[in-house]
Amino acid sequence: MRRTKVTVVGAGNVGASCAQRIAERDYADVVLVDIVEGLPQGKALDMNQSGPVVGYEPNLIGTNTYEDTSGSDIFIITSGLARQPGMSRDDLLQKNKQIVTGVAREVADRSPDAILIVVTNPLDAMCHVASDATKFPRQRVVGMAGILDSARFRTFLSWELGVSAKDVNGFVLGGHGDTMVPCVSYTTVAGVPVEQRISADRLEEIVQRTRDGGAEIVKLLEKGSAYYAPSAAVAEMVDAIVLDQKRILPCAALCQGEYGIEGLFVGVPIRLGAEGIEEIVEIELNAREREELGKSADTVRELVGTLAEI
Ligand code: NAI
Ligand code: 2OP
Repeated sequence: MRRTKVTVVGAGNVGASCAQRIAERDYADVVLVDIVEGLPQGKALDMNQSGPVVGYEPNLIGTNTYEDTSGSDIFIITSGLARQPGMSRDDLLQKNKQIVTGVAREVADRSPDAILIVVTNPLDAMCHVASDATKFPRQRVVGMAGILDSARFRTFLSWELGVSAKDVNGFVLGGHGDTMVPCVSYTTVAGVPVEQRISADRLEEIVQRTRDGGAEIVKLLEKGSAYYAPSAAVAEMVDAIVLDQKRILPCAALCQGEYGIEGLFVGVPIRLGAEGIEEIVEIELNAREREELGKSADTVRELVGTLAEI
């Protein structure tokens, strides 16, 4: 039986961490691509040499070209510039559009049946770029952001309550930016609505810290942005696809009328399995969350408008 093949483009912080986490699963061969000569080769060699210790097959390839990526089942795009302090996600738009378009064309040519996971920022806009460049059906283009934003929300809530993060469930919808929508009404601690455990004012502070979660890390690191939690989130998506888990996860998906949103990639709950996005799951939001999701979609629409002009 052929092993699943996963290509990760971008051997920087996020891409290399994704490659490592996926290799450690031992269910797929991994190809790591970057434009910097020696970088993907060196990181792949290093990861291969941890295989015998950790207990996975040393089947990673590092390369600066796309020949070895042919026939990939999953393609993860992390290539691009990362945010620097004081730089908004949107500042990255133009440069990353060029990079993602180039990579997406390689995917379409060499791995026409792949499921594409987009990570490069600004996330929702880059999903549009990848979708336009590949012309893949909407089932096969999915963006990673909501799992990360939700993980931040869940972490802060677990600290607030002094409970295991495993018992905190909740998700963040909308665009991956300042307008993201932490869905408080669906956030629970061991099944109990979080609003019964934390005051409205304190919850509002935690929601705001979640919205600022990426920037908080950028400020601390001073150089570069988060990658441990982002790569963990990508690996959760890869698990769902490779193992056909049919997980319900918040991811950026092309809405075609769902949630009243037409023709835009926005973070929504999806059922993720072997076919990619198998369903956009529509849940009933309260009035405030509906309004916030609409505003967040408007922000993505504006960005997509800018994309068309640059
Ligand atoms: P990084 O700078 O460490 O790595 C980016 C890599 O892309 C570099 O190694 C660079 O050489 C490579 N690259 C640039 N142009 C390329 C091309 N044309 N082909 C192949 N490789 C190319 O950045 P990091 O931290 O890995 O972040 C990557 C991207 O992911 C950024 O856009 C960042 O903002 C985004 N990101 C998105 C998150 C999300 O929630 N969606 C979370 C974290 C990061
Ligand atoms: C984050 O939220 C930079 O988008 C990235 O950490």
